[in-house]
Amino acid sequence: MELNKNNNKPTVFSGVQPSGVLHLGNYLGALAQWVEMQNQFNCIFCVVDYHAITVKQEAKNLSENILNVVKAYLASGINPERSVIFQQSDITAHTELAWILNCVARMSDLNKMTQFKEKGLGKESVGVGLFDYPVLMAADILLYNTDAVPVGEDQVQHVELTRTLAKRFNNEYGNVFKIPEVTVRKQGARIMGLDDPTKKMSKSAASAANYISLLDRPEAAAKKITRAVTDSGSEIKYDAKKKPAIANLMTIYSLLSNTSIKELEAKYEDKGPAYAKASAGKYGDFKKDLAGVVVEFLNEFQIKYNSFSDKEVKQILKDGAEKVRPIAEATLKNVKNNLGIN
Ligand code: TYM
Repeated sequence: MELNKNNNKPTVFSGVQPSGVLHLGNYLGALAQWVEMQNQFNCIFCVVDYHAITVKQEAKNLSENILNVVKAYLASGINPERSVIFQQSDITAHTELAWILNCVARMSDLNKMTQFKEKGLGKESVGVGLFDYPVLMAADILLYNTDAVPVGEDQVQHVELTRTLAKRFNNEYGNVFKIPEVTVRKQGARIMGLDDPTKKMSKSAASAANYISLLDRPEAAAKKITRAVTDSGSEIKYDAKKKPAIANLMTIYSLLSNTSIKELEAKYEDKGPAYAKASAGKYGDFKKDLAGVVVEFLNEFQIKYNSFSDKEVKQILKDGAEKVRPIAEATLKNVKNNLGIN
């Protein structure tokens, strides 16, 4: 990673919370997108541990999860020689800038955040950190003169808030921040739950049947695919409105196997009602094949994941923090100068 050299490549910044195991939605919406971006961009990928504590975490689990998120980055294909991987709490500028941006953000900005509305609105016991979490995310992004933020669809609104706060700060205190763009994948930006295709796949889902964890035993994952909710009918046709469950399974299949939706439709065209009578039932062959694709993906992923030692990962985080610290500190210094805090 040539962060300190002026190689004219735009900068990408993104992150994942170490709040539990990652799932296929995280992989397809975010990590797989990051891997593709490594050639054209200076990439910075963060493990956002301060975001994770907006919900109570067990200390032991959190320290393990921080390392596990890095292992998932590496197993996905993030190359630490080309991209920087670091831990948010290693760079104190994140929380400092978050405070400053808190003084720029308005209650009305944060009251609009749908993720907070879903998780905490109206509950007196909800943590202030959960409400404020998009401001810390804005600080993460703005410290690194970020051009592009690759995320899943659920984070788009937070990147929009980041743009609002950056513009407001620039207007009120003088130009410091670059205004970042959000990037979402055309396909895979919102992977839905296997048990309910109207809700996104989520690690906080009530049932483990909702998601495929990247660390699920492959046979268990195959069962989840077999048992996944389907739509009425038996046609393998992509229609997100009328057939949301099949559309979601087709998206997963397409992305994991590098096969277009059109090709999938063609492949299963003749396998409609006629084979619905077969013992596997309707959609049976399709699901069986998809289960095979998922098993193959997980096998490969987990072999790589398990090949990294904690020691190696800690070194990657240490090196990463050293690379990004000067950039973060320089931005924070400019911010403070403009505020009159020297
Ligand atoms: P987090 O940890 O909830 O999710 C990590 C990434 O996975 C994406 N994602 C999905 N994509 C498609 N389908 C799904 N079902 C799905 N579920 C999750 C998320 O959109 C995200 O890209 N606030 C962020 C972390 C963060 C961050 C940042 C991201 C903190 N600072 C700065 C970018 C830039 C979060 O909680 O993601």
